[in-house]
Amino acid sequence: MNTGAEAVETAIKCARRWGHRVKGIPDGRQQILVARGNFHGRTSTIIGFSSEPSYRDGFGPFCGGFRHFAYGDMDSIRAAATDDTCAVLIEPIRGEAGVLLPPPGFFAELRAWCTENKVLLIDDEVQAGLGRTGKWFAFEHEGIRPDALILGKALGAGLLPVSAFCADAAVMDVFTPNSHGSTFGGNALAAAVALEGLKVLEEEGLVERSAEMGAYLIARLRDVQAEARPLIRDVRGRGLWVGVDIEPSCATARDWSSGWRPAACCRRRRTKR
Ligand SMILES: Cc1ncc(COP(=O)(O)O)c(C=O)c1O
Repeated sequence: MNTGAEAVETAIKCARRWGHRVKGIPDGRQQILVARGNFHGRTSTIIGFSSEPSYRDGFGPFCGGFRHFAYGDMDSIRAAATDDTCAVLIEPIRGEAGVLLPPPGFFAELRAWCTENKVLLIDDEVQAGLGRTGKWFAFEHEGIRPDALILGKALGAGLLPVSAFCADAAVMDVFTPNSHGSTFGGNALAAAVALEGLKVLEEEGLVERSAEMGAYLIARLRDVQAEARPLIRDVRGRGLWVGVDIEPSCATARDWSSGWRPAACCRRRRTKR
């Protein structure tokens, strides 16, 4: 496809058709489980299951068929699931929510639960995938294999929109001629750029480089954190995907990106005291 959101839409269609044709859920009753605090793009279907009010405000009515769970919490997933659940759509690391890593062991448990309950595990790696976390795919950190994978962003090598929904034939084959398509999806230029981009990642060892440089970046940022307490609350990430958690009573990331500087924060804190 072209954008990440379109690949997510493709995943949703595939999961629903798989749920109906393979799992036997009556058409129209299929449900997909999504995490609270998710980010999967900005189409009207996708923002319909966002829990961020600013993405939704004024854009209703929204599409049904999604149920929320608390990320990292298997009990919450079990509680949200029904016989009509066809898939769990999930980010391996929550980017937009603040580069939040999954609790250890969560994905292994989720993988086992999905297999046991005939539910597809769909891994949205639009942000995390293709080396950013120091492995080709973030799911490799968890020692699992999802049933389907969504890729975008880096797949276009920073040049043009290319995205993909990837799955084994047993899942993908629910798409039949005419059931899905896009004018520019898989066009020759985009495919050539994606292939070349993958080749550069491989030949230049950029995945390994992300692991190395990421470890260095995190270590240095932790030094800065030690100096800048209480301004920096946490530093977390994998590979070169790193988040710096700013103490909210000092400032927000939005303040920072709009020109705010720590000195002002310290003044503000001193005044408050
Ligand atoms: C996890 C995830 N999924 C989907 C998307 C949507 O991708 P796009 O902006 O290319 O539509 C994003 C965008 O940031 C994302 O981070």
